Amino acid sequence: MLDPNAVDVTTPSICYNILTSAATTGATSRNMTNTRATYMKAVVTTGDGGVVLKTDVLVPTPGPGQILVKVVAAAQNPSEWMTLAFINTPDIVLGRDFAGIVEEIGPDVPHGLRVVGERVAGFINGAMTKELGGTFAEYCLAEAQILVTIPATLSFEDAAGIGLAGFTACQALWQNQDLPTPLNPTSNPFPILIWGGASAVGQYAVQLAKLSGLQVITTASPKNHELLKGLGADAVFDYRDPEVSNKIRQFSGDKLAHAVDCIATGDTPALVSTSFGSDGGYVALVMPGDIPRTDVKGEFSLVYTLFGKAFDFPMPYPAYPKHFELGKKFGIILNSLLRDERLKTTPVKLVPNGLVDAQKWIQYQKDGNVSAEKITYRIGDTL
Ligand SMILES: NC(=O)c1ccc[n+]([C@@H]2O[C@H](COP(=O)([O-])OP(=O)(O)OC[C@H]3O[C@@H](n4cnc5c(N)ncnc54)[C@H](OP(=O)(O)O)[C@@H]3O)[C@@H](O)[C@H]2O)c1
Repeated sequence: MLDPNAVDVTTPSICYNILTSAATTGATSRNMTNTRATYMKAVVTTGDGGVVLKTDVLVPTPGPGQILVKVVAAAQNPSEWMTLAFINTPDIVLGRDFAGIVEEIGPDVPHGLRVVGERVAGFINGAMTKELGGTFAEYCLAEAQILVTIPATLSFEDAAGIGLAGFTACQALWQNQDLPTPLNPTSNPFPILIWGGASAVGQYAVQLAKLSGLQVITTASPKNHELLKGLGADAVFDYRDPEVSNKIRQFSGDKLAHAVDCIATGDTPALVSTSFGSDGGYVALVMPGDIPRTDVKGEFSLVYTLFGKAFDFPMPYPAYPKHFELGKKFGIILNSLLRDERLKTTPVKLVPNGLVDAQKWIQYQKDGNVSAEKITYRIGDTL
């Protein structure tokens, strides 16, 4: 497990990012500099499994520890279609991932941590309640401390998909597994399997594991093998090959003891556990899944616990203050890797007309059409 005390939150990298971001954007003050709009465009639930674009949604007000972000681009996740199957309340704003500009800083945000005008990207525990809101909107609320500052070299569109996928990859690697990090890479590489390397979570997990000095084995459709090698994978296998687990076991010399299952549905937990060496090991799961081997421990975690607050949906979770500390550290690691251009963002599929066709693109993802790409909405393109 990554020691929450191992990284100083006042590390110069985050200060550097804030300073450079402020310089780039002309940001000068901690407080709101202009009068905020009252209403905004946003994609909201209809209450019967669909979504609709509305123009009269109230702009939210940041509460303690929150900032208000003017969303420039929002990225889509599988959680959008999954959530719609459960929500029967209308008018809940959809969307979790955002990239935008800090518009206003709420109470109790540590002084100097964020500045108005700063370019930020992250995720929220969105589309759950009306209070939390969502990111498929002109404005969203965000936790001020679980974020990255967007470096000047990165566009809002590219940065929009960092949040949920990037922090989930960090959580899967370091919340419960005792693995090296890019801050202290190992010089004795041992194998790790990142199942589903072409997924958004997988692309970050492959890179972060490689930057931590590990030997990275991953799975993807053949058309994505070169992409994954470019991200640092040492070996890529076709997950549809009936011999895939045997091949992974052979490649790793029967020594595989660590894995992240970035899919964790259908047969993947079984295929992952069969790939492990004779001594078993540990696999982090992004969805709840059953591991058939007793000597392979599988653990599911949910990225929203990184906010350190209790929540009820999609299942009740208590507050984990330690996870909040970890979330801040993950933000610092992602921040510094992005600033140093050592981390690549997921290829963007920028859809036309902004949020207008959100229903269609949510269905596109539900139908399994997303391959190594991030559906991304530019909010300003919404007619
Ligand atoms: N626990 C959490 O807090 C948390 C947070 C975020 C996401 N998630 C979950 O994590 C999963 C991945 O999310 P995502 O946004 O990264 O997904 P995504 O980008 O939409 O995933 C699409 C990719 O999945 C790959 N894939 C599909 N089936 C596969 C299989 N059987 N084996 C290997 N790869 C397969 C495909 O690879 P090819 O194109 O190469 O075929 C495709 O590129 C989702 O179920 C999501 O709900 C959980």
